[in-house]
Amino acid sequence: MSIEIPVGLTELLQGYTVEVLRQRPSDLVDFAVQYFTRLRDTRSQDGASSGGKTGKGVMFDGEPMQTESNGEDDEDDDSDFEPPPPSRFNRRVSVCAEAFNPDEDDEDTEPRVVHPKTDEQRCRLQEACRDILLFKTLDQEQFSEVLDAMFELRVQPQEHVIDQGDDGDNFYVIERGVYDIVVSGTCVGQYDNKGSFGELALMYNTPRAATIIATQEGALWGLDRATFRRLIVKNNAKKRRMYESFIESVPLLKSLEATERMKIVDVLGAKQFSDGERIITQGDKADCFYIVESGEVKIMMKSKTKADHADNAEVEITRCNRGQYFGELALVTNKPRAASAYAVGNVKCLVIDIQAFERLLGSCKEIMKRNIAHYEEQLVALFGSSMDLRD
Ligand code: CMP
Ligand code: CMP
Repeated sequence: MSIEIPVGLTELLQGYTVEVLRQRPSDLVDFAVQYFTRLRDTRSQDGASSGGKTGKGVMFDGEPMQTESNGEDDEDDDSDFEPPPPSRFNRRVSVCAEAFNPDEDDEDTEPRVVHPKTDEQRCRLQEACRDILLFKTLDQEQFSEVLDAMFELRVQPQEHVIDQGDDGDNFYVIERGVYDIVVSGTCVGQYDNKGSFGELALMYNTPRAATIIATQEGALWGLDRATFRRLIVKNNAKKRRMYESFIESVPLLKSLEATERMKIVDVLGAKQFSDGERIITQGDKADCFYIVESGEVKIMMKSKTKADHADNAEVEITRCNRGQYFGELALVTNKPRAASAYAVGNVKCLVIDIQAFERLLGSCKEIMKRNIAHYEEQLVALFGSSMDLRD
């Protein structure tokens, strides 16, 4: 016997549950009366525009709920599945039995998740996703599936978006806000208005490895676990095949275990630059690290010390080729970028974000630190005076 769940019921109850968890009312029944009355009032004000759907949120304390599925109906399209608006409170109960097999095909049979968006939302989403490394190796079709599946979330100061030890429900892309990364009670880093988090538990079926806390009001885009696994994890299997032998050949990474190198491949992104394009700007805040996969990169520096360079023209310091890395110095010293980097001809780089760099390349930092003395010698030879590059 099958029981048909009325359209919109899940969404309706989910919206109410989210608001209960946010507001923590003392009387659930009173709160339900208020909540559903306001929902009915909001709906009747909106007239027919909501088309009888229950996805629209209710405003409490002037704060919109995070459950809005927003506008446009797509009832004619049976191939796409419009799920109830998810929330970070929908914690998965257990994923332990789920094996990690990125080549499995089962998830291809799952319906495609689509959260309809207004043009304005889509623009904001595209902007937030522009530099997300995990999306950089997707093809156009996969990327647009990801964008379709993403849903908007608002967070409040001190809100825990993720709790260490939980099962993984969503992957998150930051639109705005500052988020602390806390591992076993210690703050180990911060996301400052960009980046993404929450990929590890979904990739490896492990409990959440860190707690992520919003330090201010913020906006995020979530991607559900099933879509993440179907598109991103599957794409990782391809990435491993593509980059495995190259990564093995990078001298800096030789000391790592094979599994550690694969974890780097899983989170890296690939970026292409055309001749003359600036990859790094001297003085900028650093958020990633580069390995040259093909082509040549020119490192240029403006000297503030020598009279010859009073006009502050850039001087070429060195070049990096396939297998060499750059952009590590600012991450190791916590200083702004010490030099600029430009593409010479067409260049392809593998890019690793600062959080993955900290997590996965900690043991390579000694090698990088030793290199600083070599950089300083280069600068003395070029500019005639010493320059302190250390932290
Ligand atoms: P996940 O384990 O799914 O949830 C917590 C997220 O925090 C994790 O994925 C990473 O995306 C992010 N994170 C950032 N820095 C770290 C770190 N040093 N250790 C663990 N997780 C981190
Ligand atoms: P970072 O400071 O993050 O960004 C500029 C990069 O240029 C720097 O990291 C190094 O990777 C690279 N670089 C190469 N040679 C030098 C040098 N002599 N001094 C400083 N940076 C250098």
